[in-house]
Amino acid sequence: MPAVKITGSTVLVTGASSGIGAALARRLADAGATVGIVARRADRLAEVLADCRAKAPRSRMWVADLADVAGAEELAVEAWEAFGHLDCLVNNAGVPMRRHATKLDRHTVDWVMGVNFLAPVAMTLALLPRMMERGSGMIVNVASLAGRLGNANEAAYSASKFALCGWSEAIAVDLWDTPLEVRLVNPGPIDTEIWDLPDNDAPLYDGPKVPADEMAAGIVTAMEGDTFEHYVPDMKSIVEMKTADPDSFLEAMAHMARRPQG
Ligand SMILES: NC(=O)c1ccc[n+]([C@@H]2O[C@H](COP(=O)([O-])OP(=O)(O)OC[C@H]3O[C@@H](n4cnc5c(N)ncnc54)[C@H](OP(=O)(O)O)[C@@H]3O)[C@@H](O)[C@H]2O)c1
Repeated sequence: MPAVKITGSTVLVTGASSGIGAALARRLADAGATVGIVARRADRLAEVLADCRAKAPRSRMWVADLADVAGAEELAVEAWEAFGHLDCLVNNAGVPMRRHATKLDRHTVDWVMGVNFLAPVAMTLALLPRMMERGSGMIVNVASLAGRLGNANEAAYSASKFALCGWSEAIAVDLWDTPLEVRLVNPGPIDTEIWDLPDNDAPLYDGPKVPADEMAAGIVTAMEGDTFEHYVPDMKSIVEMKTADPDSFLEAMAHMARRPQG
């Protein structure tokens, strides 16, 4: 049995004003789900909402800055009450932070941890009791390959995504014997605005990127399937190599970071 039957479901997607979240919201609405969408940019969110409403008229949007973790918690409850329930929360909103460890300050690390880790945790904790009482529900966390590999120049970002991976794994164990489901999705390089946002060093990676809609399809597959962890594209073997030989991984990563960028 699919863990979430998309048609007729109600799904809250954070970070749906662009990239993966926008593609996912449109895809879910196309498939007959009512979506709640969340982000800071009202104009971009409104464009996504208009597309979603054409297929799923009860869809709604919330303009919010998830760096306000207490506000994120309240928003999750507000969305639950507005729709009457949620079948699924997709914690997709995220900020990049490409900056060398020696150039980071604690405030920046706090901010990245807030948006990428603490807000998903707060929203999840707000919804778990309601989902338990209702007897169904799914949490989907969009982490990163950088949540399984320490990326060069991305200590703050990697830490936030490692935290999200660890949290997801541990809550999946805690919820094992309950009707609730947890999915962890780890994107590799996906073609979105995250690569071009200001206040970030230039990316070290300049290889091919997967279209956002293909990534969104991978998230839908994760929601409909019954396995915990999903890599899109499938780069799991790199994680396995790193786990088997962390020293060689560190050496290769450091070498890549020293390479002149062109
Ligand atoms: N693209 C990749 O290569 C890649 C790789 C690994 C993981 N990921 C992860 O995939 C997720 C989606 O990223 P994307 O690639 O689609 O990038 P994106 O186009 O930049 O989308 C990020 C989304 O998060 C929202 N967001 C950022 N900060 C927020 C805040 N403080 N409050 C509320 N919403 C906020 C943005 O909306 P507003 O700016 O309007 O708030 C936007 O909708 C992220 O968690 C990212 O870490 C992406």
